[in-house]
Amino acid sequence: MRKLAIIGASGHGKVIADIARKNGYKEIVFLDDNENIQVCGNYPVIGESAKAENMDADIIIGIGNASIRKRIQEIVPEANLVTLIHPNAVVAEDVMVGAGTVIMAGAVINPGTKIGKGCIINTCASVDHDCDIGDYVHVAVGSHVCGTVSVGNQTWIGAGATVINNIYICPECMIGAGAVVIKNIIQNGTYIGIPAKEKNEE
Ligand SMILES: CC(C)(COP(=O)(O)OP(=O)(O)OC[C@H]1O[C@@H](n2cnc3c(N)ncnc32)[C@H](O)[C@@H]1OP(=O)(O)O)[C@@H](O)C(=O)NCCC(=O)NCCS
Repeated sequence: MRKLAIIGASGHGKVIADIARKNGYKEIVFLDDNENIQVCGNYPVIGESAKAENMDADIIIGIGNASIRKRIQEIVPEANLVTLIHPNAVVAEDVMVGAGTVIMAGAVINPGTKIGKGCIINTCASVDHDCDIGDYVHVAVGSHVCGTVSVGNQTWIGAGATVINNIYICPECMIGAGAVVIKNIIQNGTYIGIPAKEKNEE
């Protein structure tokens, strides 16, 4: 198996390294633009993210911020990008998962769903049947997206939030932790509470 470079030496990166290890990677290194960070968990930080442009390694981005993740993923040659799925995630056979996406332990993704590129389906999150999850979306720890939901690019579904079935959420939204989305969201912004409402309107 090739070497894996994880861009972003953070807690999130550490979780990705563990998933990579469980997928058989033996040589794992980090890249990070903060030159003061020299190790991440048990792995060395060997340079800045720009190094990924011409590195002979598999590459994944371990950065939570969607716009930074997107910017960095776009400089990585597509052939080097991998998708990592924790062996204890349950992903239905026909689910399409884009390059650079990571699926953490305990996540469940049901049939007919498409997950875009550069997404994070975090620990114990679920995405039910026939959903369309855009690019660079983060479905955070313990959140649940019911069936036939469409989530636009770079939207973040916060920890423990729930989105009921047949909902559309537009790109670049922040759904607060614990929110319950029961209506379509057609304007980008931050939505919190039960039922979820735009933060400024609270
Ligand atoms: C929604 C969120 C982005 C708002 O952050 P913020 O703009 O910094 O908001 P503040 O912390 O300044 O809070 C502003 C007000 O909104 C309330 N609020 C913030 N987040 C809330 C939430 N998720 N649900 C309900 N109310 C919330 C605060 O209590 C505060 O109310 P007050 O003015 O009456 O005291 C953030 O609180 C959040 O939920 N982030 C999700 C993080 C997450 O899921 N991480 C998972 C990592 S895997």
